[in-house]
Amino acid sequence: MSYQKEFDAAKNNPEAFWKEQANALPWFKEPEKVLSQDEHGIHHWFADAKMNTSYMALDHHVENGRADQAAIIYDSPVTNTHRTYTFRELRDEVALCAGMLKELGVEKGDRVIVYMPMIPEAAIAMYACARLGAIHSVVFGGFAAPELAVRIDDAAPKVILSASCGIEIKRVIEYKPLIDNAIEIATHKPDHCVVFQRPEAIAEMSNARDVDWAQAIEKAEPADCTPVNGDDLLYILYTSGTTGKPKGVVRENGGHAVAMKYSMKAIYNIDPGDVFWAASDVGWVVGHSYIIYAPLLHGCTTIMYEGKPIMTPDAGAFWRVIADHKVRGLFTAPTAYRAIKKEDPNADLAKKYDISSLEAFYSAGERLDPATFDWLEENFKLPIVDNWWQTETGWAIASNMTGIEMMPVKPGSATVPCPGFNIQILDENGKELDKNQQGDIAIKLPLPPSCLTTVWGDMDRFKSGYLEQHEGYYTSGDGGYIDDEGYLFVMGRVDDVINVAGHRLSTGEMEEIIGKHPSIAECAVIGRDDELKGQMPTGFVILKNGIDSTDEEISKELIALVRQEIGAVASFKEVYVVPRLPKTRSGKILRKTMRQIFNGEEYIIPSTIDDPESLTEIQSLKA
Ligand code: COA
Ligand code: AMP
Repeated sequence: MSYQKEFDAAKNNPEAFWKEQANALPWFKEPEKVLSQDEHGIHHWFADAKMNTSYMALDHHVENGRADQAAIIYDSPVTNTHRTYTFRELRDEVALCAGMLKELGVEKGDRVIVYMPMIPEAAIAMYACARLGAIHSVVFGGFAAPELAVRIDDAAPKVILSASCGIEIKRVIEYKPLIDNAIEIATHKPDHCVVFQRPEAIAEMSNARDVDWAQAIEKAEPADCTPVNGDDLLYILYTSGTTGKPKGVVRENGGHAVAMKYSMKAIYNIDPGDVFWAASDVGWVVGHSYIIYAPLLHGCTTIMYEGKPIMTPDAGAFWRVIADHKVRGLFTAPTAYRAIKKEDPNADLAKKYDISSLEAFYSAGERLDPATFDWLEENFKLPIVDNWWQTETGWAIASNMTGIEMMPVKPGSATVPCPGFNIQILDENGKELDKNQQGDIAIKLPLPPSCLTTVWGDMDRFKSGYLEQHEGYYTSGDGGYIDDEGYLFVMGRVDDVINVAGHRLSTGEMEEIIGKHPSIAECAVIGRDDELKGQMPTGFVILKNGIDSTDEEISKELIALVRQEIGAVASFKEVYVVPRLPKTRSGKILRKTMRQIFNGEEYIIPSTIDDPESLTEIQSLKA
């Protein structure tokens, strides 16, 4: 089968194409309505099917010959632990965890927040929610209490599932005080907070709502799979927008399962029984899709790795995991490859291990820069596949479709649109642009299965944020172009979202936080290029009159403030106190020009600039 034939089939008759893909899954009741529209005109896939994602990924395999195959391999260099769960063991643990949640009052449609490190219990928690038809919302462990509080208020969970701590290279992070703080800040109060105790830090169970995970599981009865409709929600995952309020991206069970299953072969060329490793975190969309759901839906073994690419114990960590577990496909963010390259430029540590099981490198989260691409190619002589996608879609929008037809690679391009995504480049008036012309990357509706169908609790925000810029299209927020051969080049965000070590963050949110500091009159945060993390936030602030503190003191306070409000993951470490900010005559801060100057890119001085001298100041800071 050629890529073009597959792409055309999905484009010309999407319902027939996706119905065929759906046939690969075990439904309780097959979908009849393949594609439908709701009263808002939003498309839904497989709405009338009856199914359960936990059944499809676990019970089905136990009943069909995979009971004793490894489902999850937990590999934790930070605790020196290796543990394997077969599909049967995992199914049984999930059923008990679902029973525990049921006992705590969780029912179909209820929300459960999962705030956990990379331990198997995080996967068990997610599948347990799916088993009951409850909606999980996983919050990344690197976010601070106020971020967790915003999500608690928005999702209004009945229960929070957590662990006593997460383990970073240099420190143990106690989660329980963080959760208590978040619940205190939040207006919504969950009924229960279940804590999985880890020996590295035992949490104090001080509130009436606290439940000890192990004790509750001991008393729990296994719960069966609750049938849900294809368009019932599996999860909400919050992601950064341009404002301080994160967006709750929703994922429906039916479309998600079909896209996950399809992508494992079509994009990753992985077969049931293979070992697939996404070196990410359950808190991000890559973790949801390719650590937790897709590999198991496809009957593969997945790896939960609690460690880093470097320093756990060295830059050979990834090669060691690949060799130990015979990994066939590795998926991570370019920043991880860059971290390894920095420590081990000639990839000498890789030579210590037998990594012959590995067939390809997959990359997403940020553009795979040509230097990193070249390093991988030179040292490993394996196919390198860049995927462009977003939390909103749940799977790659553009990729090399390695399981269909491996196309020649062009460094810097995410290759071609995945079947189902009709990508168009539009100008600001919504006109489709010609080849090689740069504009907004948009996707013609209907979106394929798995893509978001609203922002949780806020249809207006979904419409205004994604659907109203260009009628009939989903606007991605990224800019780029398509070349003569149909290859997509993603050139970066057109809004104030930045990507730091593969983590999506909002500079607008950072500005809101900095603006609340009593000494700050005005501020701007831009994404500066960074060799390791891709981008790093950099702040520029104007002080109010009569502030006595030194610039250094102010910087320290602002850095601490962002860390306290968003979390360590923001990596906000650089602040400049400036006398003024470059602005247009109408008072709009020229963030794009500042970014270009700071990154040493060519720039045009906007004709609307109020005071050209202000640019010279930014230039001198860069120097
Ligand atoms: N819980 C608590 N804190 C966390 C955390 C978590 N789950 N993840 C990261 N942090 C903290 C880090 O400890 C660090 O704290 P510090 O400022 O005190 O040092 C901070 O958040 C920034 O983290 P990060 O940007 O990840 O930088 P790092 O220097 O710790 O590691 C890499 C750099 C490249 C090794 C790391 O980013 C990495 O492994 N990336 C892999 C790619 C990835 O997972 N991408 C996700 C999307 S696919
Ligand atoms: P997230 O929702 O966290 O996955 O972040 C999505 C954003 O990351 C996209 O909108 C892009 O800006 C960026 N991104 C992800 N993958 C790529 C890629 N392969 N190439 C370029 N940008 C990417």
